[in-house]
Order: sequence, then structure tokens, then C-alpha cells
Amino acid sequence: MRKIIIDCDPGHDDIMAILLALAHNEEFEILGITTVAGNQTLDKVTANILKVEDWLGIDIPVYKGYDAPLIRRPEPQPIAHGESGMDGPVLPDPVSEPQKLHALEFMKQAVSENDKVTIVALAPLTNIALFLKTWPELRRKIDCIALMGGSVYGGNIQKKSEFNIYHDPEAAKIVFDSGVRIIMAGLEVCYAGSILLKEAEEFKNGGKVSKLCYDLMQFYGLYAVNRGWDRTAVFDITPVVYLLKPELFEAEEMDVDIELDGEYTRGMTVCTSPAEHPKTVLLNTDREAFISVFLEALDLLDKRYV
Ligand code: RIB
Ligand code: CA
Repeated sequence: MRKIIIDCDPGHDDIMAILLALAHNEEFEILGITTVAGNQTLDKVTANILKVEDWLGIDIPVYKGYDAPLIRRPEPQPIAHGESGMDGPVLPDPVSEPQKLHALEFMKQAVSENDKVTIVALAPLTNIALFLKTWPELRRKIDCIALMGGSVYGGNIQKKSEFNIYHDPEAAKIVFDSGVRIIMAGLEVCYAGSILLKEAEEFKNGGKVSKLCYDLMQFYGLYAVNRGWDRTAVFDITPVVYLLKPELFEAEEMDVDIELDGEYTRGMTVCTSPAEHPKTVLLNTDREAFISVFLEALDLLDKRYV
């Protein structure tokens, strides 16, 4: 059983990643969910996970983290995720509240009290950087940080930068230089594991959780529809699929340096090998095998939450 903390900015793909982890309760014990500003404001992304938890009738503790990057200004992404950060599904406003404890205090408590904790990082790395900076002595108790972020070649927010790293590059540099084992799911491997829009269309014929994902994809998939694509990456499920089935991936041990400046290169992850300080950079996956992990998880959840 792997004890995990999920740090996220829900976010359509964040929600689908959390559902994937939830489906595999034989593999993951979710100690808590921490939220951070990214796709939308801290308050909005926190409300989104609470809405989904109330709707499913689950109560994984949620802890609010930072509402802005270390030194840069927040850059919410309404085009990708809408004004709410989770446009598409119509869910009631949350009844449950976030915990009173700050995300960092929770991280300190959870990592101190458990032998080995995995951090699943699905958002800008602000919370995680400050946690590692504040309690460096706890770094050795982290099994690994499995993160969605960066790229080997491309970019989505800029030509050479991926959003999670771009949004808080200083935080990313702290995390990547921390010495904690890192598994990096960058853009290339996420694109390789894209879901076909016709596969997502089938969600409407499923159960309660599948129908939620159908509604999520109705908005989230627009980015692809508007560009004439037949598929779209559900970025944040990638590190979770890796933790479940690492054998599905091609990876390389690489140095990853974070570019902090540059009109065109802010937040670029400079991946090189051979590596002096190796990070496991995921490069490719078999699309059908990869997406089957997610589709099978939805079947499990449809049976569990009726
Ligand atoms: O670049 C993709 C990442 O940015 C994902 O984590 C998505 O949720 C957004 O946060
Ligand atoms: Ca995210």
C-alpha cells in the first residue's frame, strides 16, 4: 500500500487523476489532498475538489495551500478549465469545508508520522517547494515525487514551457534540486497517452462517475475539438498510471534544469543525459494500454458509487 498526498489545482484532469487514485484503494492510501493556485484561484480549485467529494459522498481531507507563486503573479487558465476551473459538470456548491490546517502543516504532519510518503504533484509546485524548504530534514522520508510537469522538447503555455512549471519556475527549481527522487511526466508522454474524443463520448453510457467524466470532457475536450484534433491529453492521470503500472512507460534518467528567465523560455525544463543528478523522465507509453487503466478505473468507480 502506497501512502500518497495529492497536490493539485482542479482542474478537469486533476479530478480525473484523483478518481483514478480513488479507484485503486488497494494500491493507494490517500492521506490528504492539498490545493494550490494554478488552473484557477486557490478558492475555486479548492471548491472544485470539495464539490466532487460531496457529490461522491467521500471525505478525503482537503487542505488549502498557497494562493500565488513564490514571486510571480497567478495566471489562471479559463480557456482550458473555464471561469470555475471545472466548467462542464453542474454540481452543487460544496457543503464540506477544507481543513483548518494549512497544506504545509499537513504535509509536515503526514510525512513525519509515516515511514515513506509519495507526493503526487499535479499542479504548480509552490506548496511542495515551500514544504521542502521549511523542513529539509523530512526530505529523506519522501519515497518520491511523481509529478505532471515540464517537457523534453515542447511547450503548451509557451513554445518551450509547460504550465505547471511555467506558473512557478522558482518553486520547480527548488523541487528538482531538492535531492528527492522525482518521476517527471512531461508533455510528450501525456500526449502519447491521449484519450480519443470518441472514447470519452462513451462515458455518457456509463454510471455516475463515468457521467461526471463525460460532463468534464464536454468542456475540457473543446480545446481539441476547436483545433480539429481527434484526441486530447488528460495530463494529470499520467503520474498516477505510472505509479500503478510503470512497465507501460519508456523512461530515461536525465538531469532536469529549470530555466527561470527568458522571454520565450521561462519555466523550460532542460532535460539532458547522461545525468549527474538523475530524474526519471517518462518519454513514451502505449496509448491503448495506458488509457485502458483509466477506463477500467471508471468501471470500478461506477460500481462503487451508484
Ligand atoms: O500543463 C498541464 C497541467 O497544467 C495540468 O496539471 C493541468 O491541470 C494544468 O494544471
Ligand atoms: Ca493540474
